[in-house]
Amino acid sequence: MKKAVFAGSFDPFTIGHMDVLRRAAALFDEVHVGVLVNPEKHPLFSPEERCAMIRSAVREAGIDNAPVSVFSGLLVDFARLAGAAYNVRGLRNGVDFDYEYSMEYFNRRLSPELETVYLASDPAHVHISSSAVRMLMASGAGISGLVPDQICKIIAERVRSDEQ
Ligand code: PNS
Repeated sequence: MKKAVFAGSFDPFTIGHMDVLRRAAALFDEVHVGVLVNPEKHPLFSPEERCAMIRSAVREAGIDNAPVSVFSGLLVDFARLAGAAYNVRGLRNGVDFDYEYSMEYFNRRLSPELETVYLASDPAHVHISSSAVRMLMASGAGISGLVPDQICKIIAERVRSDEQ
């Protein structure tokens, strides 16, 4: 069985992430989505909220081979725990490539058996990032079409309940 991991901060998960996940789920038997708990960052959404949003979007997309869980520490340990031999990464541009290539160097040092597989972004998604989505949210602008519909609904509900 070919298993992969697809890890990230996913704060929040965008349509670009979903496109990469959908394509990876068609290539591998299982794709374990890992939501990073990074104590150095102050995420907008808690790890549990991010997991719940991604699970909901994965269900909506009809993907049935992508379990979602939280992880902290090293990606190679998350992959080992999942029994995955592949690490899926999406690439939007050269900046992503420079960052990912360095990450691959360290991941390979830590776990030579973990193969990193790059999927080029859909050109329609190259400008979409979680940080842009957070910036729009902070200014009260709409984020429809930038995150999966299901996630858009969950975020709108949260914004409404925060306002009350
Ligand atoms: O969505 P992001 O924040 O770009 O995802 C980056 C992620 C989670 C893939 C990366 O930060 C990561 O793997 N973090 C875990 C720590 C780790 O294993 N680092 C690689 C060796 S230095």
